[in-house]
Amino acid sequence: MSVTRAQVRGIGHYLPERIVENAEFESLVETSDEWIRSRSGIERRHFVAEGQTTSDIATLAAEAALADAGLCAGDIDAVIVATSTADLTFPAAATMVQAKLGMTGGFAFDIQAVCAGFVFALSTANALIIAGQARRVLVIGAETFSRILDWQDRSTCVLFGDGAGALVLEAAEGTGETSDRGILASDLHSDGQYRDILYVDGGVSTQSTGLLRMQGKEVFRHAIAKLAETAHASLERAGLSAADVDWIVPHQANLRIIRGTAQKMGLGMDRVVLTVQDHGNTSAASIPLALSVGKGRGQIKAGQLIVTEAIGGGLAWGSVVLRW
Ligand code: ACO
Repeated sequence: MSVTRAQVRGIGHYLPERIVENAEFESLVETSDEWIRSRSGIERRHFVAEGQTTSDIATLAAEAALADAGLCAGDIDAVIVATSTADLTFPAAATMVQAKLGMTGGFAFDIQAVCAGFVFALSTANALIIAGQARRVLVIGAETFSRILDWQDRSTCVLFGDGAGALVLEAAEGTGETSDRGILASDLHSDGQYRDILYVDGGVSTQSTGLLRMQGKEVFRHAIAKLAETAHASLERAGLSAADVDWIVPHQANLRIIRGTAQKMGLGMDRVVLTVQDHGNTSAASIPLALSVGKGRGQIKAGQLIVTEAIGGGLAWGSVVLRW
């Protein structure tokens, strides 16, 4: 049976030049490199320069993905940016990226599902491609969380970083079998009753930008079970199981969550692409960054089965199974 599959045609990322090691936080709040490493696995993160915005870094990642795909902006039908830190309240960061790329056709919009944003965006792009509404979609995760951190709150400011990653998804014909390249299944969830454990305490209708607030322990409590469950659900939907997975590419928030989820899925850490040590938690950018870095390291190869999973503010969580 012939089916349409959304296949990865290109990938790229951008990390801001400024690298901040854990030790730099020791002069800011009462913390230590040892605490940050042992509780989160984070060693360093990148922060944007003054004046550098989410659409700037998203555009740089998009340009890298287009170059990798051997395409130009005119070949793209749609741009989706997953972000919670868009430049302005409106227009969407995606339309700014569209303009910066010199794209005058197609359509562009943002998706806001915090750390799960990229999984939501991949799933949406897949639906657009399957429905025939777009043939090629640039799916970008880009964040400047350094703009919403409370530099006096040691329990959050040490955990996040800035960055952007982008994929070009392209419609291709598949057989409908699990051996097809492309997105094979996805699984999305949210539950707004958990708003207060991870949120920004401002927004348009409060007339302030606000800062990130998190009850880390509470988020942690939900993370491992929900992530393993959603990964299992999308694998099952695809007709596959954890034993078929070559790489877990998880949201990179905390090494202990990543380890716990892999363990719950019955997979070893040798099957996990890890970037949290170098990037910190870059929210919606963390999965495309990890995919791009994983490919660059020679870990991810054509034909391999990948499961991505993420959880964040909302709570919102989900997973995507794709064959590279
Ligand atoms: N340095 C030193 N001590 C600290 C720091 C710090 N940076 N931050 C907190 N502490 C202290 C706390 O005050 C507490 O002290 P107390 O016991 O005297 O009160 C102690 O360390 C332990 O704090 P816990 O919060 O219990 O530490 P825990 O082991 O739970 O680790 C962490 C905290 C890393 C935040 C963890 O809970 C976590 O990773 N949670 C999940 C975060 C996450 O994944 N978020 C989801 C995505 S984010 C998004 O969607 C935007």
